[in-house]
Amino acid sequence: MAKKLTFPPQFYWGTATASYQIEGGWNEDGKGESIWDTFSHTQGKIRDGSTGDVACDHYHRWKEDVALMKEIGCNAYRFSISWPRVIPKGKGKVNPLGLSFYDRLVDALLEANITPFITLYHWDLPQALQDEGGWANRDTAYYFAEYASVVAHKLGDRVKHWITHNEPWVVSWIGYGWGEHAPGIRNEKVAIQVSHHLLLSHGLAVEVLKDISPDSEVGITLNLSPIHPASDSEEDKLAAWRQDGFLNRWFLDPIFRGHYPPDIIELYSANAPKVLPGDMAIISRRIDFLGINYYSRGIVRFNPKAGPLQAEGVAPEGAEFTEMGWEIYPPGIYEIIMRIWKDYQPKKIYITENGAAFADEIASDGGVHDQKRIDYLREHFIQAHKAIEEGANLCGYFIWSLMDNFEWAHGFTKRFGIVYTDYPTQRRIMKDSALWYKKVIEENGLEI
Ligand code: FCB
Repeated sequence: MAKKLTFPPQFYWGTATASYQIEGGWNEDGKGESIWDTFSHTQGKIRDGSTGDVACDHYHRWKEDVALMKEIGCNAYRFSISWPRVIPKGKGKVNPLGLSFYDRLVDALLEANITPFITLYHWDLPQALQDEGGWANRDTAYYFAEYASVVAHKLGDRVKHWITHNEPWVVSWIGYGWGEHAPGIRNEKVAIQVSHHLLLSHGLAVEVLKDISPDSEVGITLNLSPIHPASDSEEDKLAAWRQDGFLNRWFLDPIFRGHYPPDIIELYSANAPKVLPGDMAIISRRIDFLGINYYSRGIVRFNPKAGPLQAEGVAPEGAEFTEMGWEIYPPGIYEIIMRIWKDYQPKKIYITENGAAFADEIASDGGVHDQKRIDYLREHFIQAHKAIEEGANLCGYFIWSLMDNFEWAHGFTKRFGIVYTDYPTQRRIMKDSALWYKKVIEENGLEI
């Protein structure tokens, strides 16, 4: 017999996006350049040679996009603010036209009964700050706090959910360590220092947001994955624990416990970050929720030649993968929620991103029949529900993404949306997954 899984009352059902991935309008109304403008305009950096100059043209079509969310029935929306749209040079002069764009968006969302969750930093650093070292420069953390203050003064009367950063691990390693994202720097020592400055800026912004908008919830979003050892050997288990330290504990421990994981500090040795007195107290200021972005798990084995961690990824056997090449592993979302809930005890958890890229096409009947995405989401919802049943205070779920968009170094080659973006015409088409999601939201649950 079919069983109904019901989510808690007031559960937030949303979608997530990021400014650079959807807005376009890259040089309009006084917006300054971001490191992603520079990066995507550099030949060879983006797989299909595309840029976010236009992206989904959300800067002009935002009303239509809010209407779409309303149609789907979402009661929350996670989006990010483009720092250089608001403060073109990253510090100093504020651009009122940039601020008013978000002001109007927030009003339209509230009007549609959609609760805004704002991410302050989803990777589009003002280029002018990168010219002074970007996140490798400690001053950037203080400029970030000033930017947070400007935004909170404008929107803090209506916005009650703030996410300081999106995935500082990705910013540090993919942006500054391995150079596959903007600003394209390849220096592991720098990456580690960057991670510290990002955390510091998070803590500084928490203070500012709480001051200016005291009745709001403030948190951070981390990309977390359970890391499994490739075998039961002690060596593989050690490697998995280290990889967990590299990806997960490196951010969780400072935020919730006020220190970096000692095993990883030791392995980094001379590359360990420079931390000033007082930094860890700022970083570990109590937050109201943790945002988790979950896509897949990691499998790791010991390899003495694989860098300071001596850990190396292994491809899972017999698994299914998304178009990103990521293993589809729904139990991982349950595992990571329960682990965080038990080990770090955040007040609340939100899944701030979960979703999948598949090779969607418009069918001859005009629809987009993305059954694989429905299956993916359904299995993850079931696992998330299990975590709630077992006591985790999971309060919302944001699908990545509302619509197909600019997938960073992959350009427009990966489609994550529950709404299809027909780039030549900018027409939005609800995929079957959006229609399915509408039903889940209506019923606040699903039948299994
Ligand atoms: C996450 C990012 C998001 C999107 C998804 C697929 O790492 O936060 O912008 O690119 O991956």
